[in-house]
Amino acid sequence: MQLILLGPPGAGKGTQGALLTERYGIVRVSTGDLLRDAVREGTALGRDARRYMDAGELVPDEVILGLVREVLGRVETGVVFDGFPRTIAQAVGLQRLLADLGRTLDAVVVIDVDDEELVRRLAGRRVCPDCGATYNVHAQPPTIPGVCDACGATLIVRPDDAEATVRRRLAVYREQTAPLIDHYRAGPVPVWTLDGERPMGDVSADLIALLDPLRE
Ligand code: AP5
Repeated sequence: MQLILLGPPGAGKGTQGALLTERYGIVRVSTGDLLRDAVREGTALGRDARRYMDAGELVPDEVILGLVREVLGRVETGVVFDGFPRTIAQAVGLQRLLADLGRTLDAVVVIDVDDEELVRRLAGRRVCPDCGATYNVHAQPPTIPGVCDACGATLIVRPDDAEATVRRRLAVYREQTAPLIDHYRAGPVPVWTLDGERPMGDVSADLIALLDPLRE
C-alpha cells in the first residue's frame, strides 16, 4: 500500500499516519521528521533546512526529493507519505521515484481542517524530543503534564508552532501545497477528503473504512 496524507499543518497527518503504520505494517515517511533529525544531528543539510523551517517556508524541492529517494531505496514494505509531496515538482518527482521502483500510488487522503482550529491545535501541541511522541494539551494530554508517557522525557513546543510561524505555514500550504489536490484529482489515483475537525478516533475510523478494502 502506497498512500499520501495531504493536509495543512496540524491537520493530524502525523497522528493518523502513526496509526496506519501499526494497522497495515507500512512505514511512515515524514519529510518533516527527516528534516528535524538532520537539524538535531547538526548536519549541513539540517543547518540549511532549519532556516526555512523556522521561517515556516518550504525546504527546496531537490533537497526533499534527495531525502525521499534515499529512504525509499531502503524500504521494502508499503509507505504512507506524511507531509510529502508539498509542491507539484515534488509530486512529479515522487511519481518518477515510484516508477523506478516498480510501485504505484494507491490513494491520496486529504485531511481538511479550518485555519483557526489549526492555530489552536498547534498552540497546544507538545512533542517528545527523544521518542517523537505527540500530545495535545486540549485533545490528547499526557498523563503527567509536560512528561512523555512513552519514555519519560520532558515535552517541548516545536519552534515552528509559534502563532506567527503557523500562520505563515498555513499561507504556504494554501499557495504551494493545496494545488496538489486538483493535480491528483485529475489523475487515476483515488482522492478522498476527510473532515479532520472531528475527534481523532472518528477520523481514524473513516480512514480505516476507506483503506481496509485496499488490502484485499
Ligand atoms: P512537518 O513536520 O511536515 O509539519 P506540517 O505538515 O506542517 O504538519 P504538522 O506536523 O505540523 O501537523 P500534522 O498534520 O502532522 O498534525 P499532528 O498529527 O502532529 O513540516 C515542518 C516543516 O518542515 C515545514 O514547515 C517545512 O519547512 C519543512 N518540510 C517538511 N516537509 C517538507 C516538504 N515535503 N517540502 C518542503 N519542506 C518541507 O497533529 C497536530 C496536533 O493536533 C497534535 O497536538 C495532535 O495531538 C492534535 N490532533 C491531531 N488530530 C486531532 C483531532 N482530530 N482533534 C484534535 N486534535 C488533534
